Amino acid sequence: MFFELYRKNLMKILIIGDIFGYAGKRIIMENLPFIKTDLKIDVVIANAENVSNNGKGLNYKDYCDLKDFGIDYFTLGNHAFKDKDIYNFIDEVDNLVRPANLKKETAGKEYLIFNFNNKRILLFNLLGRELMNRKQVTSPFEKADEILDNVEYDLAILDFHAETTSEKKVLSYYLRDKVKIFYGTHTHIQTSDEEILNDQAYITDLGMVGISDSAIGIEYEGVLDRMLEKNKFSSFKEKESGIKTLNSILVSLYDNTLIPYNIERINLKIK
Ligand SMILES: [Fe+2]
Repeated sequence: MFFELYRKNLMKILIIGDIFGYAGKRIIMENLPFIKTDLKIDVVIANAENVSNNGKGLNYKDYCDLKDFGIDYFTLGNHAFKDKDIYNFIDEVDNLVRPANLKKETAGKEYLIFNFNNKRILLFNLLGRELMNRKQVTSPFEKADEILDNVEYDLAILDFHAETTSEKKVLSYYLRDKVKIFYGTHTHIQTSDEEILNDQAYITDLGMVGISDSAIGIEYEGVLDRMLEKNKFSSFKEKESGIKTLNSILVSLYDNTLIPYNIERINLKIK
């Protein structure tokens, strides 16, 4: 399949799962430049809500580093504002979106538009409600409609940051005619259901970039103590060593119509 990705008339978008902590950042630094060149990637998008502050948030230094390593556009999630440093730059940069359906948050962009070959690419980010904090969000269905019905675009890409597989499947179906690249994030576990349905490239969850032998990025011990109800105040520490994982998808689209041609799942394991 990789041979097909060298076809000249395809736009190639690499979309990277939740980058977790220092380990995740280092994996991006060590691998992304080569992946970008070898696979002739046009655009790189990544979820960066778990980079700083022990996996909670994104500070300015980490944002700048990831940009230097080759990430073009960033999405966030439920931890978007946990590191307060983000308030110092989120309104100043043009390549970062926060979840659009937050009830109270006013800082940051609800969507962004970038240009590729004179085509307008809309990128936005929504939070799920099922098994998540419903109080902080409005309906992702209604917010998606509001954005998609009021913005002019040639291709819409959505990062749906949500817990349940069913909510991701149902929203992807609801938006099938409008959003041509729909992917889930947040669980940090990559699903193997990537496919193109009705010209929509879809995967339930991209997975993560970090140490896979962990409690989705965190050292097991602190999480285990809480689950065993031994210590409800045990501290969480990001996992820094072990086999490194880089999860992502590579979506190629016909560059004249922007109809998805192929979705390839990437699950690199690096010792
Ligand atoms: Fe999350």
